[in-house]
Amino acid sequence: MDLKNSLYIQCITKNEQTFYQINHPAFKANISAYGAQLLSFEPNDQQDLLWLSNSAVQDGSKAIRGGVPICWPWFGPASGKFEGEPQHGYLRNLNWRISSIDENAEGVTIEFELQRPEKIVQLGLAVKIIFILNAQAEIKIVTTNLNKEAFELSQAIHTYFNVEDIETTSIASLKGCLFLDKLVQSEQENQTYEQSSELTVNSAMDRVYIYNKPKLEITTDTRTIKVEGEGHDSVIVWNPWAESAQSMADFDDSGYKQMLCVEMGLTQGYLLNPGDTYVLSQRFYC
Ligand code: BG6
Repeated sequence: MDLKNSLYIQCITKNEQTFYQINHPAFKANISAYGAQLLSFEPNDQQDLLWLSNSAVQDGSKAIRGGVPICWPWFGPASGKFEGEPQHGYLRNLNWRISSIDENAEGVTIEFELQRPEKIVQLGLAVKIIFILNAQAEIKIVTTNLNKEAFELSQAIHTYFNVEDIETTSIASLKGCLFLDKLVQSEQENQTYEQSSELTVNSAMDRVYIYNKPKLEITTDTRTIKVEGEGHDSVIVWNPWAESAQSMADFDDSGYKQMLCVEMGLTQGYLLNPGDTYVLSQRFYC
């Protein structure tokens, strides 16, 4: 799409990769065309709400570590008929382009479509990603099942939030919820635990909370990040902590101290019927 006449959006090319920089009176943002991935979102008078690894690979050879990767049409390792396919699905490793823009003094809405949708068409699915950016950031994944059979859809909006100090960050909203702990090898598949107090993180964490309420809050030293969503049946909370961060080439060794992934997910087994469209969304602001 030609952005020559856009009021706020500029297309930048770096290392042969395309980025859309948005400079709006209410906020600044940066979206990578690779992955249709929001990499930064700075509302006026706020530090970036998103964390991006200083060592993130941004040459189109690997999913970008940070911002908001999209996991689709499965979350986590591929299984069943997709065994051997990439973790978190295809979208974060594909190139996207803008299909429509709506911009005004309040904010911008940008819709992305896949540059080469062949692989996704073969699955019998259609997908688009919509960003609604103003004083808040909202991301929507819109999936339509074009098959004659139901499709088991799983997905997540994998937001890396920027926190000043992970050890003093908390999420009170998850108190009382059940969760699956991906770091515990349990003989019983689907073993759940209860979150007995507000959630704090002081070691590696990889949990799927059974949570479909529309809101939660992340409290950091200096601000409260409000996270809202629709279409999710769970919230994933992930921080690799020191050892695992060091083992990832694209994760700064001490980066785990300033990030927390809080992801709206559809992970509990959802069948998307033929002809139906599903929308998963996540919105965040201070
Ligand atoms: C989280 C998963 O959502 O993403 C973790 O729950 C995973 O298990 C993490 O390690 C990062 O995944 P990746 O593929 O981006 O390294």
